[in-house]
Amino acid sequence: MHKVTAIYPGSFDPPTNGHLDLIERGSKIFDELVVAILRNAEKAPLFSVAERVGMLEALTSHYENVRVDTFDGLTVEYAARVGASSLLRGIRALTDYEYELQMALMNRKLRPELETVFMMPAEKYSYLSSRLVREVAQLGGSVKGLVPELVEQNLRGKLDPAYRLGEFADIEESGKKKMRTRKKA
Ligand code: PNS
Repeated sequence: MHKVTAIYPGSFDPPTNGHLDLIERGSKIFDELVVAILRNAEKAPLFSVAERVGMLEALTSHYENVRVDTFDGLTVEYAARVGASSLLRGIRALTDYEYELQMALMNRKLRPELETVFMMPAEKYSYLSSRLVREVAQLGGSVKGLVPELVEQNLRGKLDPAYRLGEFADIEESGKKKMRTRKKA
């Protein structure tokens, strides 16, 4: 029987629960799903490609038909190299639509035989993006429930040591300035 392979390309910096929701959905409808991390030397990512590969491999190891890979250059050419006939992308809100439509139609122009398949993540992740997760975590906010625990831990490790959870506790008012205070031993 004909095996349908799909690629799920993206930056995954970092992987969120929205990405994992989509991987789960994709794993159910495709015979093989390749999570493909774009290696883009121009961007300054928070997590290195190797770190993102490590996290995604750990988070998807329970799926027999999901594997993690990296690529650069055109997505359509990568898809051809791995024998994928579908490209999976997630659509959250209407605001995603225009960009995703442009990409899907450009990819279709470049490689008509590659079909883009859009799936919607669970509603509770509809506002979630890697960019917002990075921003909130970098400013010391909680991303609990938005990213897997492994990613949460790795985010903490990336932050300014002064903001690492566990080392600091309450936030005290000092004049108008809010300050973090060291936990009393
Ligand atoms: O997670 P992202 O950043 O939204 O993913 C975007 C991605 C990687 C899918 C897109 O930038 C991409 O396909 N880049 C590879 C270069 C390419 O093929 N460009 C033409 C796409 S129309």
